[in-house]
Amino acid sequence: LNNGLARTPQMGWNSWNFFACNINETVIKETADALVSSCLADLGYIHVNIDFMFDLQSTNLLMFFCKMLNSQGQLVPHPETFPSGIKLLADYVHSKGLKLGIYSDAGVFTCQVRPGSLFHEKDDADIFASWGVDYLKYDNCFNLGIKPIERYPPMRDALNATGRSIFYSLCEWGVDDPALWAKEVGNSWRTTDDINDTWASMTAIADLNNKWASYAGPGGWNDPDMLEVGNGGMTYEEYRGHFSIWALMKAPLLIGCDVRNMTAETFEILSNKEVIAVNQDPLGVQGRKIQANGEDDCQQVWSGPLTGDRMVVALWNRCSKPATITASWDMIGLESTVSVSVRDLWQHKDITDNASVSFEAQVEAHDCHMYILTPQAVVSRSDV
Ligand code: GLA
Repeated sequence: LNNGLARTPQMGWNSWNFFACNINETVIKETADALVSSCLADLGYIHVNIDFMFDLQSTNLLMFFCKMLNSQGQLVPHPETFPSGIKLLADYVHSKGLKLGIYSDAGVFTCQVRPGSLFHEKDDADIFASWGVDYLKYDNCFNLGIKPIERYPPMRDALNATGRSIFYSLCEWGVDDPALWAKEVGNSWRTTDDINDTWASMTAIADLNNKWASYAGPGGWNDPDMLEVGNGGMTYEEYRGHFSIWALMKAPLLIGCDVRNMTAETFEILSNKEVIAVNQDPLGVQGRKIQANGEDDCQQVWSGPLTGDRMVVALWNRCSKPATITASWDMIGLESTVSVSVRDLWQHKDITDNASVSFEAQVEAHDCHMYILTPQAVVSRSDV
């Protein structure tokens, strides 16, 4: 979407993967504090996104409306969990140099059966803008069977009409192949169903998102859902692969764990500057799965171009045993005569300054190595 935002994939935090419905304004403020004090904010994680903010416990539909909408029919935050209101929360988040995100739905209800924004796009966009909201995640539940291409653009137009710069994140779950139409509608679009904190879910989602690589670029990104790094369901190596591949795929890097209580390992993964730089590379080309060998195609090479004629290469061993994985120049699209220097982004080490034709590494089960290949300047005869 040409609204000046998302020149590189968005980075930040979202409450859903860890907190689900158990959020309140204190959690949001403490998360903003933790992003700053941990220095994750300095590394680019600036969006603090509330998913499903209207945290009502009641299942009585009338109650929802009584509590959720004021007498003018406007959305109101829940008085117990967000008693200070969203405007003051946004002011707080902004005072930390961060941005506040909110959530609604292109349907009559959100997925947790709170009021959605379908047919109320203008009113809701105006309220969000008046609160100082910087980001909207827009979900797909209770959509009355109306095509997404008819439900998502009205909110784009309503957000645009507010005059406030608001990042527009489509959460359509890939149902109607949003990569094919969402470039003019949103700044990112979910390509898959929800991720969960397992190796099986994470790898399956990576493969689904890969299919749409050619549609991503500055202004609009494929979104394979938020990070599970740090939530406990995968090993350190598996999370390292998750983070590497999301970065390489130019996916949004939205942290999904409790950053107030991160382990050192979780922090080490999320704060890897070299991997983040791959994600934020201004060329903005989504890397892809280039080769899959071995049993169940589990020895994988993923790769993509970066600025300065560099390449990023991930050797991702999805097998249950260690494997030697080879990336050859013809496979990743380098001229066969080119020699490159190779830097390992997890060891933070230059491996060689002179690799040609191919290179290989032994990768542990479920681990992922990630490298940047930089072509050597060609030495001409007169220089020698
Ligand atoms: C849907 C979305 C999730 C999350 C939940 C909240 O499932 O895909 O990312 O926002 O709704 O209810």
